[in-house]
Formats: sequence, structure tokens, C-alpha cells
Amino acid sequence: MKIYQIDSSARKKGSTSRALAKKLLDKIKKPEDEVVYRDLDDEMLFVSGLTESGMKIPESERTEQHKKMFELSDKLVLELKESDVIIISVPIYNFGPPATLKAWSDLAARVKETFKYNEDGSRVGLLQDKQVYLVITSGGTKINSKEDFLTPWLIHVLNFFGIKKIDIIAADQMALDYEKSIKEAEEQINKIS
Ligand SMILES: Cc1cc2nc3c(=O)[nH]c(=O)nc-3n(C[C@H](O)[C@H](O)[C@H](O)COP(=O)(O)O)c2cc1C
Repeated sequence: MKIYQIDSSARKKGSTSRALAKKLLDKIKKPEDEVVYRDLDDEMLFVSGLTESGMKIPESERTEQHKKMFELSDKLVLELKESDVIIISVPIYNFGPPATLKAWSDLAARVKETFKYNEDGSRVGLLQDKQVYLVITSGGTKINSKEDFLTPWLIHVLNFFGIKKIDIIAADQMALDYEKSIKEAEEQINKIS
């Protein structure tokens, strides 16, 4: 089994989402599993300089900036396609995702790679049969409350890629009662087999 772990907190030292994702990884990983790790805080690019409505600049017209963007996009798509289990750790930033996770989704959404259009114009996700664990942390925002735009957005994007098996481990509202939030998240991890 290939486990793909993606961390997105802008904080490396002392990050709760990273620590919980590591705990989850240790819980589910079997000795024969391979782990591919990606830290979105180390390397990310924003989609920019496009010349058409989508991500389709002919190779001959690509600038150095485009080449770098497509190179990273190709890498991210491949990592996703090759994975069986995906762990995404993410804090809520200003009621949504960190900018790096939004940028990741823009680079990962590639037609004929992670989604496609049917002849009738409907969309279908191409990343079927993958299990995703979302490790979500927040200070004061309650997960799935009306000010949480991260969770519904991320689930929607993953569904768009064809991913339906999504489990959430939440350490939300840590600013209110840190110990309680962590304890509940750890209990959720312990229940995963
Ligand atoms: C830029 C920024 C924006 C934040 N916005 C929110 C927010 O909208 N709601 C919230 O509950 N917490 C917010 N927080 C707090 C983080 O979600 C919280 O500290 C999180 O658990 C940090 O995760 P980490 O320990 O993995 O870095 C924000 C933190 C930062 C740095």
C-alpha cells in the first residue's frame, strides 16, 4: 500500500495538525507500506500567467514560469494517482484552507488526469478507490459550522477528483479547550484500524 501524506500548516515546529497526522500515519502504516511525503509549506506555486481558460498552454509556448508550474503540477498529479491512502493535515486559516492547499488543489485538478468531462458535459473524477483521512485543526472555528468553509470545500474538491471515502479527524476549537480537543482527536485516531 502506498500512503501519501500531505502537511499544509505554515508552522513546522509545534504544529498540532502535523503531529496528529504523524500519529495517524504511525497508527495505520504497516511495515510493508511505502510512504510518500509532501510538505506544501516547502514548495508551492500559484497558477498564474495562463493564456487560455484552463491549464492548457501548448509546450512550444511555455515560458520558464509555465514549465516550473507544469512540472510541479505533473508531480502532484502523479503522487495522487499512485497513492492508495492519502492523509491531508490542514489548519483552518481565515475560515478556509491555507493558501498553499488552495494552490495545491489548482495544480492537482488536471483534465484527463484527475477528472474528465463525459460527452454529455458531465464531470467524472478519475481518482477512484482511494481512502482519504483529513486531519483538521482550528483555534475557535467549530468544524462544519457555518463559518467553516475549509471542510465542505475540501470534501467537494476530493469528490470532484472521484474520492468518496473520506474520514475526518478533528482537533477543532483548540483555543477553547486544548486538552479536550487533542484528546478527542487522539480517540478518533485510536478507533481507526
Ligand atoms: C493565518 C492564520 C489564520 C487563522 N484563521 C483561523 C480561523 O479562521 N479560525 C480558527 O479557528 N483558527 C484560525 N487560525 C488558528 C489555527 O487554525 C490553529 O492555530 C491551528 O490549529 C493551527 O494548526 P497547526 O498547529 O497545525 O499550525 C488561524 C491561524 C493562522 C496562522
